[in-house]
Amino acid sequence: MRAWSGLLLVLVAGVVLTEAQRQLIRPEANACANRIKHASTFRNGNYYFFSWTHGPTRDHERDWLDARNICRKHCQDLVSLETQDEAAFVYQQMQHGNVKYVWTSGRKCNFDGCERADLQPPIVNGWFWSGSSARIPATNSTFGWRGDWSHTGGGNQAQPDNREFAETGTDEACIAVLNNFYNDGIKWHDVACHHVKPWVCEDSKELLTFARFNFPQANIP
Ligand SMILES: *[C@@H]1O[C@H](CO)[C@@H](O)[C@H](O)[C@H]1NC(C)=O
Repeated sequence: MRAWSGLLLVLVAGVVLTEAQRQLIRPEANACANRIKHASTFRNGNYYFFSWTHGPTRDHERDWLDARNICRKHCQDLVSLETQDEAAFVYQQMQHGNVKYVWTSGRKCNFDGCERADLQPPIVNGWFWSGSSARIPATNSTFGWRGDWSHTGGGNQAQPDNREFAETGTDEACIAVLNNFYNDGIKWHDVACHHVKPWVCEDSKELLTFARFNFPQANIP
């Protein structure tokens, strides 16, 4: 009986959740309580995690969703670069570790529920930080900081260019930061989410609140 109701829940959830959300995992009490927290990565009330600075993950690369879920298990999410200050901090760590590229939580709204007029066309107006739900300014915005999109890429086009879609039909729906990969400095590129890369996690206020409420015995810091 238990097994049946569990299955039913999964089926119902599968219908309600979008493709992008369906495979997200929940945080785990012990993983959250024992998440890696280097003092030097405490900023704005958040701890960060750089996969290449931690022994067990030093040489690991993951696709975007796997990387996100590793973060989420630990009450974090992939990093969201809402400000120039935070972006500079992450670029500095990349430079320091001589890392070629990393995943961020940047995502293009290209799934069910993204039909809203203000998100069109998605390649210009559909970008957001999935870790914090903050919108990313339109890529052609002329007001304020509009991010660090590269002026070039594998096809010599300004980013985002959705190059892989033209070549293979796979949408470039995730944002990676590349470290001078195209002789372009440390810049943002739209990349197909199935590629594997090192990753950066950042505390998720939402997941920490969820976990602290649901696992009070874990004393999650
Ligand atoms: C940005 O691109 C969108 C969609 O192509 C267009 O409608 C809008 O006018 C552009 N804005 C600027 C400031 O160029």
